[in-house]
Amino acid sequence: MKDIKKLLVTSTCTIKTAMKVLESTSMSILLLVDDNGALVRTITDGDMRRLLLFGFGLEDTLSKLPKHNSISASVHSSQDEILSLMREGQVGQIPVVNELQQPVEIFFDEDFRLKIFLSNPHMGGLEMGYVGQAFDSNWVAPLGPNVDGFEQELSNYIGDSYYAAALNSGTSAIHLALRLLDVAHNDFVLCSSFTFVASANPILYQKAIPVFVDSEPETWSMSPVALERAIKTCIKQNKKPKAIILVHLYGQSANMEKIMALSELYNIPVIEDAAESLGSLYKDRHTGTFGKFGVFSFNGNKIITTSGGGALVSRDKVLIERARYLSTQAKENFSHYEHTEVGYNYRMSNILAGIGRGQLKVLDKRVGEKRSIFNYYKDNLVIDCIDWMPEHKRDHSNRWLSVLTINPNMTDITPSDLIKKLSKKNIEARHVWKPMHLQPLFAENDYYTHGDISFCDSLYNTGVCLPSASDMNTDQQAFVIEEIIKYFKKN
Ligand SMILES: Cc1ncc(COP(=O)(O)O)c(C=O)c1O
Repeated sequence: MKDIKKLLVTSTCTIKTAMKVLESTSMSILLLVDDNGALVRTITDGDMRRLLLFGFGLEDTLSKLPKHNSISASVHSSQDEILSLMREGQVGQIPVVNELQQPVEIFFDEDFRLKIFLSNPHMGGLEMGYVGQAFDSNWVAPLGPNVDGFEQELSNYIGDSYYAAALNSGTSAIHLALRLLDVAHNDFVLCSSFTFVASANPILYQKAIPVFVDSEPETWSMSPVALERAIKTCIKQNKKPKAIILVHLYGQSANMEKIMALSELYNIPVIEDAAESLGSLYKDRHTGTFGKFGVFSFNGNKIITTSGGGALVSRDKVLIERARYLSTQAKENFSHYEHTEVGYNYRMSNILAGIGRGQLKVLDKRVGEKRSIFNYYKDNLVIDCIDWMPEHKRDHSNRWLSVLTINPNMTDITPSDLIKKLSKKNIEARHVWKPMHLQPLFAENDYYTHGDISFCDSLYNTGVCLPSASDMNTDQQAFVIEEIIKYFKKN
């Protein structure tokens, strides 16, 4: 229920006060009521502007408004009836009144429009077949044929010489990678700053120390320049980093040649956080296959989902077998329960792996859909002060999210303004990740910039992720674009 009390005004209210109230409500409508609180009419910004044009002053009262029969619905009206009233009257809002004609609620056209999500799950149709098999054979408990199948099919997808451990999240995959690299108390771990917190949290689980690295303009992912400076400084401090966690941001691959060259030169293993980039290629090779480990996420907003899940991949079969062992409470291979080290409950269930098997079948299709969505935005949302996330010409990004930046030298509109504006139209847009070095959680940690100033700070201050669900249709995209263009034109 909306708080409609703040929309109520009486005829003794001045135009000036009414305009202020309208500005503060952000609902673009006021409800004029009589002394008994009964609805007299609705008032829009346009109604008040017309009064001023007709020569009335700001101190004149709303009693000067012409008589007007505003459409209203009764508390007994169904949503369908309210929607019909809106369509017939060609209005964007309908107040609902009680038996005394007093307004009790108001509906806007966007209340009836389905929400346009940022990136919702998108089933391909085959998932239930695998899940059904699990039910039919009672492989509902953890592990089973779908888990084995999913691991095999995921490895086949990224390249034959890889092994995969299916886990309950991408975060647990990063944690296991750090465990497998023996990252421990007080070790330094280099990590992309411009990312979701899940890239860095596992460093803290191991009581190690994150050292953050800026992004580069070409990819928005880890800057090799900043990375080398970070490595050299850590070595000078006698603290050679134990690992590098780099993120392929929003589907765009990091510069793997340069980063792997540094990894080899200084002998520091790389964990590729490819949570957002499954299906993306760096020079025809899948992201997640360059480092010692690759990490994928299958949470609900990712390009394919298992509702929640992740995977750790590597060319090292022994390490992946050890990951499977650590992720099942590190239970030794005895008939009784024997444990020699700390383990975790991190394995993916056979049911969820069934969803994953179905989803893998449509992964390439999803990459195509996400790329079309990005291209449609880029071709149709053309405004001087808007720019788009780059894609390096050597790469093929899965364009997990379509991301724009707003040039602050050309407009006062901020990412927050745009996100709020769209949200009123039931459109879900989001800020880009807030860099880790700006998070209170990591206030004490070191950070290395790409140039003299931090590059990812500027992305944070200007970036907006637009709705990018692979099942979005062009009507929805056109609506998002129209709303954005209208907003920028008005301001
Ligand atoms: C860059 C990045 N890393 C890690 C994760 C963590 O994945 P999960 O949610 O599966 O734990 C996510 C997504 O949630 C992510 O976007």
